[in-house]
Amino acid sequence: MDLKELYRDVILDHNKRPRNFGRLAPPAHFAHGHNPLCGDQLTVYATVDGEVVRDVAFEGSGCAISVASASLMTEAVKGRSRAEVERLYATVHELLTRADAPVTAELGKLAALSGVREFPARVKCASLCWHTLHAALAGTAAPVTTE
Ligand code: FES
Repeated sequence: MDLKELYRDVILDHNKRPRNFGRLAPPAHFAHGHNPLCGDQLTVYATVDGEVVRDVAFEGSGCAISVASASLMTEAVKGRSRAEVERLYATVHELLTRADAPVTAELGKLAALSGVREFPARVKCASLCWHTLHAALAGTAAPVTTE
């Protein structure tokens, strides 16, 4: 199996069986995200203990890439500090938007999103959950959009 097939299988698996799908009860932070290009919406919840993001969940509907990306994100950020989550957000953003961004070990399974950069119209699908998590952690009340 080549890398492309492996990445495709990761995306398909996380779309079919999204991890951490659902809500977290208050006092979890949460934010709503919206992709105006397609109307898809996600809500991301995060429980923070001091500087550590203990738990993350999401709900909403979207395309396969947005659901898989959110599912992969929840697995990747649990247990990390806020600062590490922000760094990972920046790394994923590079991965999605720069053709020559390296696929680093830090990305783990998130590397599966590297194929998205070949489809610029889908970058917002993959980044919606990250914008929304960022807003949840920042305590932003207004819905965020990918625009
Ligand atoms: Fe709506 Fe991908 S088409 S988030």
